[in-house]
Amino acid sequence: MEQFWAGSSINKNKGMVELLQRYGIIQSKKVAEVMETVDRALFVPDGFPAYEDSPMQIGFNATISAPHMHATCLQLLEKHLQPGMHALDVGSGTGYLTACFALMVGPQGRAIGVEHIPELVAMSLKNVEKSVVAPLLKDGSLALPVGDGREGWPEFAPYDAIHVGAAAPEIPKPLIDQLKPGGRLVTPVGNIFQELKVVDKNEDGSVEVRTEIAVRYVPVTSRQAQLRGY
Ligand SMILES: C[S@@+](CC[C@H](N)C(=O)[O-])C[C@H]1O[C@@H](n2cnc3c(N)ncnc32)[C@H](O)[C@@H]1O
Repeated sequence: MEQFWAGSSINKNKGMVELLQRYGIIQSKKVAEVMETVDRALFVPDGFPAYEDSPMQIGFNATISAPHMHATCLQLLEKHLQPGMHALDVGSGTGYLTACFALMVGPQGRAIGVEHIPELVAMSLKNVEKSVVAPLLKDGSLALPVGDGREGWPEFAPYDAIHVGAAAPEIPKPLIDQLKPGGRLVTPVGNIFQELKVVDKNEDGSVEVRTEIAVRYVPVTSRQAQLRGY
């Protein structure tokens, strides 16, 4: 719910990454590298200040999350996004975070972004095709299917990393089921008051849940409810 900078004075992707480092949101070289490599401007609708630290409307009552939220989630998931690992991004919207995941897990891994609005999926595919990860889409290690993300995406489960880009009152059980032992799920939970939860699955299958920060996301919902404004 914080905003670390406002206005459109930052007009370079690198400048945005440097600010995220200065504010301590980006702490690792890897996350800085990935966010520098995937240009956010390719994922933000034309005419919007791409590098401002704010969520922006992308149509269909959805938003692209603010840069500091993308950076926070990448930091939390970094160890679970190593080359060859499987990552699931629920509510992939513009495809920005899925693209970052794909770059991290590489051609031997899998980065799946599930989004339930077909028009947003079409837009995200166009965004990715313009970006540095286009070859990963072509070779199939990055995929952006249309689907209800509350069901996860069983085809490539179990996942080392799962991110949910919208808030549900409770963590959907299929997502916990599809998390690999040793894996991590990062998801906002709540209605009006929401918290970003970090769920770690132990090797014996038990889970530990902790709260990272207070957040404000659009809800995980049905397509119909979202299109009529929830
Ligand atoms: C805050 S947006 C985040 C989008 C993405 N992380 C980004 O930054 O571009 C949340 C997304 O979740 C999607 N969504 C909501 N409920 C969903 C569901 N049941 N299944 C799949 N996607 C869903 C919305 O359509 C929206 O695109």
